[in-house]
Amino acid sequence: MTSPRRSAARRTTVLRREAVLLTAPLVVAALLGAAAPAGSAKPGAPGAGDSYFPLSGNGGYDVSHYGLTLRYDIASRHLDGKAVLTARATQNLSRFDLDLRGLTVTGVTVDGAAARFTRDGQELVVTPRHAPRKGREFRVTVTYRGTPKPVTDPDGSPDGWIPTDDGAFVANEPQGAMTWFPSNSHPKDKASYDFTVTVPKGYTAVANGVLRGQSTVHGLTTLRWHEAEPMAAYLATATVGKFRTEQYTTRDGIKVYNAVDAREAKKAAPVLKQLPSVLEWESRLFGPYPFRAAGSIVDHAPSVGYALETQTRPVYDSAPDLATLVHENAHQWFGDSVSLTSWKDIWLNEGFATYAEWLYSEQHGGASAQKTFDALYARPAKDGLWAYPPGDPGSGKNIFGTPVYARGAMALHELRRAVGDKTFFRVLRAWADAHRAGHGTTAEFIRLAQRESGKDVGPLLNTWLYAKGKPARA
Ligand code: ARG
Ligand code: ZN
Repeated sequence: MTSPRRSAARRTTVLRREAVLLTAPLVVAALLGAAAPAGSAKPGAPGAGDSYFPLSGNGGYDVSHYGLTLRYDIASRHLDGKAVLTARATQNLSRFDLDLRGLTVTGVTVDGAAARFTRDGQELVVTPRHAPRKGREFRVTVTYRGTPKPVTDPDGSPDGWIPTDDGAFVANEPQGAMTWFPSNSHPKDKASYDFTVTVPKGYTAVANGVLRGQSTVHGLTTLRWHEAEPMAAYLATATVGKFRTEQYTTRDGIKVYNAVDAREAKKAAPVLKQLPSVLEWESRLFGPYPFRAAGSIVDHAPSVGYALETQTRPVYDSAPDLATLVHENAHQWFGDSVSLTSWKDIWLNEGFATYAEWLYSEQHGGASAQKTFDALYARPAKDGLWAYPPGDPGSGKNIFGTPVYARGAMALHELRRAVGDKTFFRVLRAWADAHRAGHGTTAEFIRLAQRESGKDVGPLLNTWLYAKGKPARA
């Protein structure tokens, strides 16, 4: 069932023949109201319409829940997976795609009925027996196996299921989810998750949300994780390794789970100890912490080169410093709870998380944000900082570049200078609150800043976010 996608002409003939063969079940399904009337159903788009990652995500449906059952063997690097997606059709859906790269799919069902499927690059193309009708919920089950291979991002970083010497470092921004589970892999479509992950005894699989159970039988350990809050696929993790773990509940009732590779433990300990106070400080600044779980996964993964704000529990490729801990946890508000609608708006994640670092320093005896701004602003016009504007990085290659992080933070600092501290912090909280568990765009942020401040900060923000080259200071 892994032939390349058929040509349009051939598809029509096949469908016509099926229309005859399937008349009886279709009538039954139509009477039940689940299947779309024959002829009105169309294939969902192979992408979510993102200009930087055109094939990320898919059209025609919205996922509300992923149930992932995984088993990973560390020695052979073999993954067995079953994904159960609960989705709602946004059109009468004759066919739809999931994002999945590599791996072998052994079966797909839609509402319990075997579905036809083909593979086409990173698209798993599913043709259900009965086309889901617009507005209807349907359930897709995909069984698969193989050796996951990370993807290489346009910036050269590995992304997805990245093998380590004792398991796997799992971080998906922006496109790695498709290396280990079939999904609608665009932040526009967020869903709740359940993970059941089985690994050899002695290893731990750490995913998002709260730990619902852990048991060891016949040399295999299974952990069950539950993330109730909507989560983008790129923020999912199931990082596997030999970890020292600890669990506690903060004064605010947040359930913390830390997993630390022994090789990083000594360096990580003093930083991880600060997590409750960092979360309290961020909650005072940005509003209530958006999730019920928190924590850290500190892996020893020298080949990775970055940390990621995996929802509720950031993953670090080595012991983080305090600024990185502040950064990844600030993303829980900005990026994870308030999510992007397109990758072009990435400064809404990285500019905010970077500015959180500046604020932390300012309020904890370090350099003021003004000082950090001034040092950056002093860089000459030819410096890479001014290579492109943060609101329009140009392509997926640039989304994690200095202009996005540093000039994005500078844009926020200029807003702060223009409206004053009180109003500025009100804007940050209003942004986190108004788009909590949802999405935001740059245009919406600018409008919110105007509304909350009562000042025409549009021109200033437009300059800092969109003007080419080094902006002149007002
Ligand atoms: N969002 C992460 C952070 O700022 C960076 C992820 C980098 N990913 C990549 N593929 N280069 O902490
Ligand atoms: Zn970041």
